[in-house]
Amino acid sequence: MSEFPPLRANRYRDTWCGAVLEDRVDSDVRLAGWVHRRRDHGGLIFIDLRDRTGLVQLVFDPDEAGEAFELGHRLRSEDVISVAGKVVRRSEDTVNPEIATGAFELRVKEAELIADAETPPFGVESFSGEVGEEIRLRYRYIDLRRERMRDAIMLRHSTVRAMREFLDGEGFVEIETPMLSRSTPEGARDFLVPSRREPGSFFALPQSPQLFKQLLMVAGFERYYQIARCFRDEDQRADRQLDFTQLDIELSFVDVEDVIDVNERMLAHVFERVGGPKLELPIKRIPYDEAMARYGTDRPDLRFGLELVDVSDALRETEFKVFRSVLESGGIVKGLNAGRREVPRSVLDGFIERAQELGAKGLVWAFREGDGWRSPTAKFLSAAELADLNQRLGAEEGDLLLIVADKPAVANAVLAQLRLDLAERFDLIDPDANSFCWIVDWPLFEWNEDESRWDPLHHPFTAPDGELDPERPGEARAKAYDIVWNGQELGGGSIRISDPETQRRALAAIGISEEEAQERFGFLLEALRYGAPPHGGIAYGLDRIVQRLLNAPSIRDVIAFPKTASGLDPLTGAPAPVDEAQLRELGLIVRSQRPR
Ligand code: AMO
Ligand code: AMP
Repeated sequence: MSEFPPLRANRYRDTWCGAVLEDRVDSDVRLAGWVHRRRDHGGLIFIDLRDRTGLVQLVFDPDEAGEAFELGHRLRSEDVISVAGKVVRRSEDTVNPEIATGAFELRVKEAELIADAETPPFGVESFSGEVGEEIRLRYRYIDLRRERMRDAIMLRHSTVRAMREFLDGEGFVEIETPMLSRSTPEGARDFLVPSRREPGSFFALPQSPQLFKQLLMVAGFERYYQIARCFRDEDQRADRQLDFTQLDIELSFVDVEDVIDVNERMLAHVFERVGGPKLELPIKRIPYDEAMARYGTDRPDLRFGLELVDVSDALRETEFKVFRSVLESGGIVKGLNAGRREVPRSVLDGFIERAQELGAKGLVWAFREGDGWRSPTAKFLSAAELADLNQRLGAEEGDLLLIVADKPAVANAVLAQLRLDLAERFDLIDPDANSFCWIVDWPLFEWNEDESRWDPLHHPFTAPDGELDPERPGEARAKAYDIVWNGQELGGGSIRISDPETQRRALAAIGISEEEAQERFGFLLEALRYGAPPHGGIAYGLDRIVQRLLNAPSIRDVIAFPKTASGLDPLTGAPAPVDEAQLRELGLIVRSQRPR
């Protein structure tokens, strides 16, 4: 079967540009598309014509093109044309191996200019770094004409299609949930939409379809999915957008194993369909505590070593006040062995600065030398301590050791990032390697120091693994799982609380009163009283999956119309002020406005 979509012949075309191949030689075809490139070769004019399927070379020869030759002269990049002529084989020496149709060309007999194009603000032909992203997004419809962007959007389409194909086959039903609704507690700030009918009241755009998919389980659909738009007003990063897309999934009468099983098979199916990495099933599982201990993060990149080691026990009696005071106040001393490295002092100073930027008070560096260290800190530590540290860190002669003493959360966060920095600096990541893992056995809650309360690590509807003791929220474990690909969180989910009493207790543990719970999600608590099946699910960042498949630096590269890193849309100019009349209708007064 041809890889080209069927085409109904009309006055514009009867063949795709990319389909001008062997089987068309000597036949007459009609093509339409954009002038990609034009070259005038003393008498002959060559044009690369582009449509969605690729490029083909047109030849305007004055002897064959007749009146069309004159048009060939006038054509400029990005003009839209329709041409007819005969497909011929190119001579050996003129074959262009860069394009799929490179062995053939169209000898033009007729040509029509369909739309004239102004000179584009940047070339479609080249994909170079010199065009700023702001300009690319301002003229996104031109940027999207570029091969790299088109491929990304096509891959996104194939990915979604493969997801649907698999899930449909497993009996999942695609159901839409509302955009205008109430706040969902995913932890970000809401986008609000003012109500005209009830001035002073607001809809919230969904941070995820979480509550609705649970209601769909109560409703008895059993297996649900949705390619869902989610809205979160949070700081932008390379893998975050204000509005983004999830593949959202929920199942009934399941436990963790069931959810993981169907998801592993889905990912394997999708990757196979779209040419992603080969997935070895089952995917490795790492308990949360172990991930934190060995990598300092809940999304470890397993493509390289440099594991973290808690060396606190070697230093309990130390005279070195920096370590001692941290240990005495409940902190830890943790480090990593960066291997045998020759690095100048300036780079070591750079590591210290980086650690401080990341929140550490300092950083100890050392090179193993004999049984001790070459390090400004060596003199503060006893020979026995140095030997013990070397042993715990597996240090061999000349190995570079980096050590941070701090509260566990800070030490972990700093070392986790240093670990990534070092992998890059020392080129430890094989660009073709892929690592996947599930992070499992999460704590249900984490202590929020700033607010002095327990917060859910996922969301407050996550089921505890076993009984939930309201007196000891810190000990509760969650039936939750995240999936991580090369150090990036792709998706996460959990088994949900399906009985009202446990839900009440979970909310109480995080300091949400009965009244507040009623007010914010009383509808869910109520639904749980009408016969709720055990259920659970997951959501993936679709943008992130496609980003990883392409190894693109940002999810903006795989979204047709993304916002800039500062959350603006240069194409439409959104966000933008609105008319006074609109505000009045909504019962709103703007208190402060950013000067434009
Ligand atoms: P969570 O909040 O972990 O879970 O989101 C699921 C996945 O969505 C992606 N993601 C984002 N992608 C781009 N931009 C963002 N701002 C952004 N925020 C999140 C991530 C993340 O893993 N309702 C739960 C899922 C569940 O429990 O079933 C939820 O939304 O890839
Ligand atoms: P100071 O006594 O503050 O001069 O620190 C002595 C050495 O310990 C310096 O090299 C600091 O960079 C380092 N240092 C200070 N605080 C920490 C810390 N919390 N963790 C690791 N090293 C530290």
